[in-house]
Amino acid sequence: MMKLIELIHKNRSYRRFYQEHAISMDDLRTMIEAARLSGSGRNLQPLKHILSNTPALNAQIFESLGWAGYLTDWAGPVEGERPSAYIVQLLDASIAATPYFDPGICAQSILLQAVELGYGGCMIGSFKPDALRTILGLPESLTVVLVIALGKPKEEVVIDPMVNGDVKYWRDEQQVHHVPKRGLDELIIG
Ligand SMILES: Cc1cc2nc3c(=O)[nH]c(=O)nc-3n(C[C@H](O)[C@H](O)[C@H](O)COP(=O)(O)O)c2cc1C
Repeated sequence: MMKLIELIHKNRSYRRFYQEHAISMDDLRTMIEAARLSGSGRNLQPLKHILSNTPALNAQIFESLGWAGYLTDWAGPVEGERPSAYIVQLLDASIAATPYFDPGICAQSILLQAVELGYGGCMIGSFKPDALRTILGLPESLTVVLVIALGKPKEEVVIDPMVNGDVKYWRDEQQVHHVPKRGLDELIIG
C-alpha cells in the first residue's frame, strides 16, 4: 500500500502513454467513484462525466486538446503514445451556474485513483470547447470544464527544485520530463 504522499509524488502530469494498453470502463467508473466521494461547494455536486475508452472517440477528443504549452517544439503525443482513455468533466448548469472549486478537487481524486490503479494522466484545460461540444453531442445545459487524459505512462517525470523562479517544465536529452517545484518554505509565510 502506497503512502498518500508517495501516491501524490507519483501523480505527475503524464503526456506520453502506451496507447495500446486499454483502460476498462470498470476502472474509469472506479475513478468517478473517487470524484463522487469528494468534497463539493454547497454539496451541489454539479459535475457530470463522459467516459471514453474507444479508439474512435479517443481520436476525436484528442484533436481538440492543447498539450504542454511550455514545450514549444512538441506538438503533443504521436500516434501510438496517445491516451487510451479520457474523462470529460462537465458542468450541469441546471444544478449550479458555477462549479466553484469542485473541478480541481474531483480531477485530483480521479488522477490519484488512476495512479493507484497503475495508470497516470494529465488535466487538460486547454481544449476547443465548441469542437468538443459537437463531438460529444452536448445539450445546452452541459459545458466542458476540464478534460482528463489517461493511460499507462510511457515517460519518466522527475521533480526538480525551482531555480530563479523559473516555472517552465522541460525535457532533457533522454526525454525525461522535469517539473520545477517551489521549495516548502516558499509556500509557507512566517
Ligand atoms: C487545471 C489544470 C489545467 C491544465 N491544463 C493543461 C493543458 O491544457 N495541457 C497540458 O499539457 N497540461 C495541462 N496541465 C498540467 C500542468 O502543466 C502540470 O500540472 C504542471 O506542469 C505541473 O506538473 P505536475 O502535474 O507533474 O506537477 C494542467 C494542470 C492543471 C492543474
